[in-house]
Amino acid sequence: MKIFALIPRNFNLSKKLTTLMFAIFLLGIIVSSIFCYNILRSNTEHELNRQANVLISTMDSIRKYNQDKVNPLLEKQSEQKFLLESIPSYAVSEVFNILTNSYKDKYGEYIYKDAMINPTNSNDLATEEEIKIIERLSEQDKLGGQNIAQGFLTIDGKKKFYTSRPIKITQSSCLICHTSLEKSPKSLQILYEQGKYGANQGFGWELNKIIGTKMIYIPAEQVYKITNENFILIIGIFTAIFAVTIFLATLWLKQYVVQPLNRITQVAEAVSLGEMDIEFKKHSNDEIGHLADAFTRMKTSLEIALKRLVKKVDRNQNQL
Ligand code: HEC
Repeated sequence: MKIFALIPRNFNLSKKLTTLMFAIFLLGIIVSSIFCYNILRSNTEHELNRQANVLISTMDSIRKYNQDKVNPLLEKQSEQKFLLESIPSYAVSEVFNILTNSYKDKYGEYIYKDAMINPTNSNDLATEEEIKIIERLSEQDKLGGQNIAQGFLTIDGKKKFYTSRPIKITQSSCLICHTSLEKSPKSLQILYEQGKYGANQGFGWELNKIIGTKMIYIPAEQVYKITNENFILIIGIFTAIFAVTIFLATLWLKQYVVQPLNRITQVAEAVSLGEMDIEFKKHSNDEIGHLADAFTRMKTSLEIALKRLVKKVDRNQNQL
């Protein structure tokens, strides 16, 4: 192959093999790095997405528990004084705050948000990007597609990986508080009058329509950090395996090819200087062993030819 001609001819065999293997290693590492990094990154995204989905499902379960178990118990008291603790979404955001504060190391920078087009609590107002996600989820819903969206977004100058699921009102009981101020309970109306919620905020919601999205944000550095850590580990192992392979191949070449060849060369040189007592030793039954055999046969022929020559010279001298 022409490519082999790139290795300098004056290199010895071990150097040639090391250069060849090193070139293969470099090429291999460049190609595999590109593939490996992309595969690892999509795996990390997949894993974080799975984690985010578990969190969203947990939050949904808290919502359901609050709705089915806590809300009925607090209904009476809430008529006197509106108890936010009876509101599923309030419970969810409180639980998530506890989670991020109690497990700062792992979830400290995670964000949960019920991003809404028209929220009750203005903290839940969807940003432009989140509105686009809500629109995308609505489209997917109409087409009967996946009820999930994921990707990267920049929030306050920081890149975040997000996973989102739609918020759809499926129970008409929800509309008691989310239709209009007049129709909502008196105790809630007081909160609006006190200015806790802005006028018309959280009203006009419709049944079976996607009106918002549950968002989990994970710092993008986490995606890169996990990817980079795994990448360095895999490339490190790959490099170590290659280094050991190059070392062993060169060692083998030295022991079984270069040294026997050197020995044959030394013996051939000695024979060429007339030292006939020295032998071409055969150490293996391979090409090098066959070479030693061939040299031994050549030496024997040479000895016979020499002896004949000496005899002839002697005879000629006797005749004179
Ligand atoms: C008794 C009144 C009441 C009922 C019934 C009610 N909500 Fe709410 N909802 C509220 C209030 C008040 C908030 C704002 C809580 C806060 O300040 O965080 C809220 C907030 C929310 C939010 C968070 C986004 C936002 O608007 O700030 C979602 C999502 C939500 N509700 C969905 C529902 C669903 C789904 C149901 C039915 C299962 C429901 N609500 C039933 C009063 C109610």
